[in-house]
Amino acid sequence: MKNFLPQEYKKNEKLNINHSYLVEQFADYSKVFKEIEKVVKKGDYTLGSAVDICEKNFAKRTGAKFAISVGNGTDALLLSLKALSIGSGDEVITVPYTFVATVGSIVTAGAKPVFVDVKEDYNMDETKIEKAITKKTKAIMPVHWAGRPCEMDKIKSIAKKYNLKIIQDSAHIIGARFKKNHLVNYGDTCTYSMHPLKNLNVWGDGGFIVTNNKSLADKLYLIRNHGLKNRNSVEVFGYNSRLDTIQAVVANYKMRNKLDNITSKRISNSIMLDKLLAKNKNITLVKRHKHLKEVFHLYHINVKKRDKLKKYLIKNNIDAKVHYPIPVHLQKAAKFLKYKKGDFPVAEKLANTSLSLPVHEFIKKNHIKHVVNTIEKFYKN
Ligand SMILES: Cc1ncc(COP(=O)(O)O)c(C=O)c1O
Repeated sequence: MKNFLPQEYKKNEKLNINHSYLVEQFADYSKVFKEIEKVVKKGDYTLGSAVDICEKNFAKRTGAKFAISVGNGTDALLLSLKALSIGSGDEVITVPYTFVATVGSIVTAGAKPVFVDVKEDYNMDETKIEKAITKKTKAIMPVHWAGRPCEMDKIKSIAKKYNLKIIQDSAHIIGARFKKNHLVNYGDTCTYSMHPLKNLNVWGDGGFIVTNNKSLADKLYLIRNHGLKNRNSVEVFGYNSRLDTIQAVVANYKMRNKLDNITSKRISNSIMLDKLLAKNKNITLVKRHKHLKEVFHLYHINVKKRDKLKKYLIKNNIDAKVHYPIPVHLQKAAKFLKYKKGDFPVAEKLANTSLSLPVHEFIKKNHIKHVVNTIEKFYKN
């Protein structure tokens, strides 16, 4: 199987208004190089002191008592499941409208993913959860899609009623709030990704688990590093899923210097798009709610003639994307779960109508106006 990513990178290079600006977002790399030089001179590449600093910074950012850095966002989900002793014979309730990693982590842990549909806002439909609970259900894994919090007070009360764990896939949601509260307060763990396309990003892979539960945190610190208590004592068998010290340096730099601006720019770009697109009858926008602070990792609209509009925007040098055209229950990998077309009508509808527009911190106001004008032109033709 070939690596398809180099081709994807090439595709993006040509456009005037891009979805992501990987080069620009690290244009000040020389400043980071200076800090990396210190790591190279010191040689503390694995779980070095920058990792400890990063964990402190991350815990503060997410309002958590404990932040455990790991290799990536997928491992953050998997290790959460493992630390909560969820595996073979267990069921975990999640959504089919997500990036495959959410569901993949459940399958890798040996448990069975059970889907409930999403709502028009792309997030788990909390009214469908109770029907999906069986004797085997051990956890709920909501995904805060696109940077919008799920209805966590309702999900938390269902979990309490049925004695279930909550693992929140928070890959998109650094900086968000639910009713002004940090999301860590609504479950056992929140898991984050620092993939280069995420709002807080590093130069490769990186992830975080946050929790307020000390014994869970202690387990996670152990299993992300082979279960080692110290150099010679193994408490439990674990994994090698450590955040590289070099990536911790990058994450520290970004948290210190960039993240607040990234978050506020994405929010203001999205508010502007909401306003400018509101009158267009061909477009359905996600309704905003005051109790949700969204951070817009993605900005979705639902549109008529989606594929044609996408092509038209790209032809006009605007990078529109679909996240994602095939919900997970209809993927080849999910065949063994025996779901079929029509099982999750909202997820399937969104997969056919959803379009993501650029809201990156480098997008200028005149770019946003141009995107909106180009969409209007498309529907006039
Ligand atoms: C919703 C969601 N969950 C989990 C992940 C996995 O994160 P990572 O790529 O860091 O493993 C991603 C990554 O794109 C994601 O979008």
